[in-house]
Amino acid sequence: MIDNRLFVIIIIIGFSFTYSAVVNSNSNKYSKISSRTWDQAIAMAKTFVSQLTLEEKCNMTSGIPGPCVGNVFPVSRLNFNGLCFQDSPSGVGDGVLHSTAFVAGIHIAATWDRDLFYKRGVAIGKEFQGKGVHFALGPMMNIDRNARHGRNWEGFGADPYLSGENSFYYVQGIQDQGVVATAKHYICNEQETNRFYGISSIISQSSSSNSKGYSANLDDKTIHEIYLWPFASSVAAGVGSIMCSYNQINGTQACQNDKTLNGLLKEELAFLGNVMSDWGATKTGVESVLGGLDVDMPGGDGLMGFALVQAVQSGVITETRINDMITRILAPYYLLEQDQGYPSLDLDRDAIGDNYKINRQVGTAGMVLLKNKNNILPFNVTTDKYFFIYGTAAGQSDEGFSSGGSEQHAGALYQGGGSGFVDPTYGIDPLTSLLIKGRDSHLQIRYITNQNDYNAINNSFNYRGFSNAKCLVFISAWSSEGSDRKDLHALNNGDKLVQTVASHCTNTVVIVNSVSQLNLEAWIDLPNVVGVIWSGMPGSEYGPAIVDVLFGDYNPGGKLIFTLAKNDSDYGTDISETYNSNYTEGVFLDYRHFDKYNIVPRYYFGYGLSYTTFSLSNLNISKARRGKYTASSQYQQNRMRFYINIAALRIYRPVYEITFTITNTGKFYGSEVPQLYLGFPDEAQEPPKVLRGFERVYLVPGESEQISLVLTQKDISYWNVINQKWTVASGVYTVWISTSANNADIKLQSSFTI
Ligand SMILES: *[C@@H]1O[C@H](CO)[C@@H](O)[C@H](O)[C@H]1NC(C)=O
Ligand SMILES: *[C@@H]1O[C@H](CO)[C@@H](O)[C@H](O)[C@H]1NC(C)=O
Ligand SMILES: *[C@@H]1O[C@H](CO)[C@@H](O)[C@H](O)[C@H]1NC(C)=O
Ligand SMILES: *[C@@H]1O[C@H](CO)[C@@H](O)[C@H](O)[C@H]1NC(C)=O
Ligand SMILES: *[C@@H]1O[C@H](CO)[C@@H](O)[C@H](O)[C@H]1NC(C)=O
Ligand SMILES: *[C@@H]1O[C@H](CO)[C@@H](O)[C@H](O)[C@H]1NC(C)=O
Ligand SMILES: *[C@@H]1O[C@H](CO)[C@@H](O)[C@H](O)[C@H]1NC(C)=O
Repeated sequence: MIDNRLFVIIIIIGFSFTYSAVVNSNSNKYSKISSRTWDQAIAMAKTFVSQLTLEEKCNMTSGIPGPCVGNVFPVSRLNFNGLCFQDSPSGVGDGVLHSTAFVAGIHIAATWDRDLFYKRGVAIGKEFQGKGVHFALGPMMNIDRNARHGRNWEGFGADPYLSGENSFYYVQGIQDQGVVATAKHYICNEQETNRFYGISSIISQSSSSNSKGYSANLDDKTIHEIYLWPFASSVAAGVGSIMCSYNQINGTQACQNDKTLNGLLKEELAFLGNVMSDWGATKTGVESVLGGLDVDMPGGDGLMGFALVQAVQSGVITETRINDMITRILAPYYLLEQDQGYPSLDLDRDAIGDNYKINRQVGTAGMVLLKNKNNILPFNVTTDKYFFIYGTAAGQSDEGFSSGGSEQHAGALYQGGGSGFVDPTYGIDPLTSLLIKGRDSHLQIRYITNQNDYNAINNSFNYRGFSNAKCLVFISAWSSEGSDRKDLHALNNGDKLVQTVASHCTNTVVIVNSVSQLNLEAWIDLPNVVGVIWSGMPGSEYGPAIVDVLFGDYNPGGKLIFTLAKNDSDYGTDISETYNSNYTEGVFLDYRHFDKYNIVPRYYFGYGLSYTTFSLSNLNISKARRGKYTASSQYQQNRMRFYINIAALRIYRPVYEITFTITNTGKFYGSEVPQLYLGFPDEAQEPPKVLRGFERVYLVPGESEQISLVLTQKDISYWNVINQKWTVASGVYTVWISTSANNADIKLQSSFTI
């Protein structure tokens, strides 16, 4: 029988989705996907709410102590056992046992591969579901506005479109496993410095000292086009929960901000789920409830919960608003069918399965080849027999696994620190994997991990037989939630390590294991630095993944998700040390800023090499045809779910189709990421070019493929601050297909006029 709800979707989106398409999505190989809509889930939640007493309802609005990092009050007389909320965006965190440390957000984004965005989400979702966790506290989608931000590694980089695509697929991957995703941190949480508002005489929660916190101050166009954009994508995907942040926006705390919560999120984006506070981010009771906060986490602060009973009785808050809060808390639970046979809670349960496989795949796929002079890479085990390995970042972590650690953290880094960190069951460092590769391929390997022992390093070049060795230098940069980086340099004198090795070794290859942007200028132009691989934050499978890339078992194809500047001041944005953090750059962030001011960076956003080469040709632009299946549209029929937010999805209607041909002209199987940059008519007041499409394409040598990218209604619109709508400008739009944000990498160009 054809489900009537399907036709609602068909009619509203205006495309001819067929019944079989939805059957396919439900027989998805990963799991059975929920077949409930928001309307149904809300109706079920309302029925439940109607059976609750006022006291029960109020108590549910504040977290209680329990096994998870956040716990919702159970109502056992109605067989509701409460809800479990648990970190993190990159695996099940908070110190649980049996958990995979997945590649971090910053690493998956660098794959530029929507299929992998989704598959990583699926694997993470399976671990949450297997342990019986109801809400996963991710994805994290704050924009990499400040290179030094301590939490950049959890997010998806500096571009809103790329972050939005990551958010959309992550949410679907998680929610297809029946786990509610929590998009965070809403909104404009782009630094850690002064992150807590805590006047200790008023509020003691999370505050070690008196602090006014900080306020992100920004205009309406900027918040819509940059910072709200990925949240909008997650709402369209059907995300069940959104976490409000520690900071203020225009002087008002994020968790009681009527404009951002009620205005932007619940009205404009039509978000139907709940807003939960970041841990300790609730600063008031009544004001927060009226401002749009639905559940206070972790609770115990006396601000919401039972305290709201009196607020209702005295008429300060209506019972209708309380009902709305509980409906929003429970709707995602019903939406994803957690009321039907969801696993019991056991945080230490082993649900890892064979997730190491996908983790290794995304580990390799997110590595970026930055430099490869004379094709030094990939190494060939027949001819390349002698290897020196340098740097603490090649080996085991001195501090073992912990979310803490200092800025001088030693050893290979799998993830950054803080609540986003996952204690992995294991982590394989590069040195271990290289030694195994050496055993298997009969390589001579020597290593020095004490990187400050310059005598030993200098003497190593006298080893017999090693005069023409390849030198692998591992450097790293770590950061954590709670503090921002002091600078953009590698840890433990990493620059000096590279310089020392390169002063002796003509075949120096540097591997950069970093939480976000790094300044490479101290050594990048040295003639002996012939190869550089950005290994990112690659998760537990770091060792096997880097060996695959170095020896050509995997042809690298990741791309930078931020610009690497020559001078730190070139970014034009930085952490605010004072109360006001003014986003005066507006929409001119990262490559949009470098473009506007004609600043040449070291490496451009979107840049990354391959061991093979590609050509692009035959650019064609046409109006998107009704009902046509477009392989690259993010909101295509095989992504339709009953739990999507239909109202929010409407703006993503395909309007233009951009086709071109890509050919692998080299000798290796590999991938390229053609990127669609759009130039707007003047009326839109946009940067010179903005990313509005991409597709990672894998081809064998000589193979060609026709690629079709879709521009949606939102993609060709700007936020009109006068009429408060996404508006299409009239005039000429330029379409560039490029392999990075560098204008010199533009391969194809055309235009259309509206
Ligand atoms: C609600 O919470 C209050 C304060 O913790 C507690 O005294 C009361 O028993 C709770 N009500 C119910 C119905 O559990
Ligand atoms: C913040 O203030 C600016 C400048 O007045 C205004 O354009 C913007 O809409 C405000 N945004 C929010 C979320 O309050
Ligand atoms: C490795 O080098 C050998 C000897 O020069 C050569 O025959 C072989 O094709 C090379 N392998 C690759 C993958 O290039
Ligand atoms: C190591 O070698 C480099 C290059 O020759 C030299 O500049 C440096 O002083 C040496 N360091 C030590 C500790 O010998
Ligand atoms: C970086 O930029 C700053 C500010 O413009 C300038 O003072 C400094 O000399 C620059 N540093 C380098 C290495 O160019
Ligand atoms: C930031 O904006 C605020 C509010 O508009 C203003 O009072 C303050 O002077 C600005 N601060 C800086 C450093 O520009
Ligand atoms: C461009 O695409 C349109 C619609 O598919 C087609 O009619 C037209 O022939 C194409 N033009 C070129 C030059 O390929």
